[in-house]
Amino acid sequence: MTGNIVGERFVLVSFGESHGKCVGCVIDGCPAGLELSESDVQKELDLRKPGQSIVASQRREEDRVEIMSGVFNGYTTGSPIMMLVLNADKDSRPYELLKNKPRPGHADLVALQKYGGFNDYRGGGRFSGRITVSYVMGGAVAKKLLSTLGIEIIAYSLEIGGVRASNFSVEMARENRYCNEVRAPEQKAAEEMKRKIVQARGEGDSLGGIVECVVLNCPAGLGEPVFDSLDSDLAKIALSIPAVKGIEFGSGFGAARMKGSENNDEYSIEGGKIVCKTNNSGGILGGISNGMPILFRVAFKPPASIAKRQQTVDLEKHEETEIIVPGRHDPTVVPRAVPVVEAVTALVLADHAIRSGFIPPVLGVRR
Ligand SMILES: Cc1cc2nc3c(=O)[nH]c(=O)nc-3n(C[C@H](O)[C@H](O)[C@H](O)COP(=O)(O)O)c2cc1C
Repeated sequence: MTGNIVGERFVLVSFGESHGKCVGCVIDGCPAGLELSESDVQKELDLRKPGQSIVASQRREEDRVEIMSGVFNGYTTGSPIMMLVLNADKDSRPYELLKNKPRPGHADLVALQKYGGFNDYRGGGRFSGRITVSYVMGGAVAKKLLSTLGIEIIAYSLEIGGVRASNFSVEMARENRYCNEVRAPEQKAAEEMKRKIVQARGEGDSLGGIVECVVLNCPAGLGEPVFDSLDSDLAKIALSIPAVKGIEFGSGFGAARMKGSENNDEYSIEGGKIVCKTNNSGGILGGISNGMPILFRVAFKPPASIAKRQQTVDLEKHEETEIIVPGRHDPTVVPRAVPVVEAVTALVLADHAIRSGFIPPVLGVRR
């Protein structure tokens, strides 16, 4: 299987399967001299892990990270950083049934067709949301690097099951998003989203939604047009999160129904700085960050594994049959995907910040 590496100068190699021994990553290209400890990574992993509430899968994983290389005396050395967590709470029994009855909407059948049946199908294998542990690990390091430039990434659940948060500011999102189970930017929407999720779960069904992401203090000049433009790279990595079906920047698909006079962000001068009066571009023009907040939204489908009767095929008998998907599943992936969206955004920005010379190969001076 190729395709598990992302980045040009800050490179993440992702590895592991849902019910294998571990999941983890190797980061190559991280500058030397970044203060880094396991607790920096752990606090991000804790925001993603399952079994924390009724709105998520009941699989119980500690997700205790171990940094195996690349850090010495509390600082990155410039060598590859290898990190992993062990998979502990694995129940592979339900997947023996699924082996011959692919779940509609999941990757079971295409994986079998592509890899000739050699793929690890337990827990969805390499197609499980569990692989995003590796994204979050790498993202934790990237976030620390970006903090040296004052760059801050704030994602939150904008919409779940048709309930959309409104009347909130970025400051509210920063404060509130990790204080409620659904990762919403405001309390009223959080309660309504949770009610919808609990209802869908009770009906044996699942819900989709939208994660919005804002990046503050990103300097102008990140992005390498044309094929490595900032929006291309963000779109590619967002679409590498399982269950993502779309991404839009700024006014996004809405721009298709606007006039130029409505969509253009007019320039003005504030405190001696050139700024835009609006941000319909989402902070990226010509594939390059323009110094305004980067703003995009990522659409997630409802997870495929539902406890409702659906038609599938029995691969051994080659006949139509029905399935009620067993096992422990997320009734929506949106809350757990919020730290994942932050992580992948950090990976891309760190890569481009290094490429554009905003981050040097050695940070500070060795003590
Ligand atoms: C954090 C996270 C958790 C997920 N949990 C589940 C789950 O419990 N059940 C499920 O069917 N899909 C889950 N998914 C989505 C599947 O992994 C995904 O739909 C599947 O691999 C097929 O890929 P695609 O939807 O991108 O085509 C999860 C995704 C993420 C990001």
